[in-house]
Amino acid sequence: MGYREFLNLVNESADKLSGLIEQGKSFMILCHTDADGLSAGAIASMLFLRSNAKFITRAVRSIDEVLTSVQNMPRDMVAVLTDIGSGYLEILKERIGDRVTVILDHHQFESEADVPRDWVHVNPHICNVDGAREISSAGIVYFLAREINEENTTLSTVAVVGALGDLQDKSSEGRELTGLNKMIVEDSVKLGLLKVVDDLLFYGRTYRPLHLALAMTTSPYIPTITGSEAHAVSFLSSLKIKLKEDDRWRVFAELTEEEKKTIYNGLMKYLSSLNYPPSIVKQLVGKVYELTREEDWTPLKDAREFASLLNACAKTGNEWVGIAIAMGSRGELLMQAQKILEEYRKKLSEVLDYVVKRENWQELKYIVAIDGGTFIDDRMVSSASSILSSSELLPEDKPLIMLATVGDKVKISARASNKLVSRGLNLGYVMRKAAENVGGVGGGHDVAAGAEIPLAKKTMFLAEVDNIVGELLKSK
Ligand code: C5P
Repeated sequence: MGYREFLNLVNESADKLSGLIEQGKSFMILCHTDADGLSAGAIASMLFLRSNAKFITRAVRSIDEVLTSVQNMPRDMVAVLTDIGSGYLEILKERIGDRVTVILDHHQFESEADVPRDWVHVNPHICNVDGAREISSAGIVYFLAREINEENTTLSTVAVVGALGDLQDKSSEGRELTGLNKMIVEDSVKLGLLKVVDDLLFYGRTYRPLHLALAMTTSPYIPTITGSEAHAVSFLSSLKIKLKEDDRWRVFAELTEEEKKTIYNGLMKYLSSLNYPPSIVKQLVGKVYELTREEDWTPLKDAREFASLLNACAKTGNEWVGIAIAMGSRGELLMQAQKILEEYRKKLSEVLDYVVKRENWQELKYIVAIDGGTFIDDRMVSSASSILSSSELLPEDKPLIMLATVGDKVKISARASNKLVSRGLNLGYVMRKAAENVGGVGGGHDVAAGAEIPLAKKTMFLAEVDNIVGELLKSK
């Protein structure tokens, strides 16, 4: 089992989907609300647009929203679930098993036996391909779209953005996209749409003034500098790095190797002086994915920043803006998206500044829990936990469980290191089991997962998580 099997599955599924299009069916794309979900939704939308099929696209936050949307749509419409669904096959079969459904998702699932015969289910785990590291949901939809119409190879950049949005570069040396993601990168490079460069990964390395590039970089999060232009300026000045050449702002791409080394080493020293792990800086070196056709000075030039923009749209109720941008809209809409990103960035750095103070960290036997209560917006928890987990601020031997309260519910985001996964931890399993045990729902990947549970069960849930994590780690 592997890539060839996966591509065969894509071919078979493309035939089935083309059959539905030829029958004149109309479609409802239901995409998950994060950067990968919106990218996947945008690629699916372009696929149907180019196939002259009737479709509508909606972003959905939860499996409940999927069920309600499908139950309320006309009976002859086909639901296409992107980046959501595989983790909930049993519920889907029970509640909408009588409606032809297409699921294009990279999350782990329990049993393929739950998929009704006339459904289409494309998931890399069916072929033993790792859905957390080798392909995102945007990538799955991309392969399908490419199979149906070669013109859709132009959407390869969006699939790259989706994979980076889901941090699929996190496990590899040098922040590189690997596996099936690499094939997509190759498509994109061949078309001249993408340039891959080895460098420091500051956002906007070719066009943004040094201090702004430093302050805007969130992957990884650099404590006290991410989000603060003033700190970025004083840090660079302390290293005697010239910010301007005559009247022109200098950019990272034009720095000498010597200057880059000075910044790299300077950041290590700076972080140690504040008692943060200097190894965070290692995450700053690697592959930069640059979209060649995008205008400089926009967040779309760097694929990681493009993903941040989509994520900001997804987490602030502006999903349609993100989807439209990923489908190719620019102009006024891009200005709007940039504003959304700026505001989201500000809020996120407030959350991160608060969290890194460690005031509300609770260390149990096998996990670290950060309870944001109602202080942290539930829509920030996913991004904040991802950024924290990519920044080596957490103990390597304990997963992070971050919580935020909304009304009588708690939203949870869980993140683990690859080292813990290699010791037998699977957070998708942990979240599903622990949430089920307290009357909630959960699921996801081995390294990143989430759940929603009743507020009254919070303490019990954390105890369950601690217990299941302990069992998994002891069993290997
Ligand atoms: O929300 P968050 O980004 O923390 O979720 C991490 C991963 O877990 C995502 O891929 C998300 O789709 C998945 N998840 C899930 N079921 C939930 C919550 C999250 O499959 N109830």
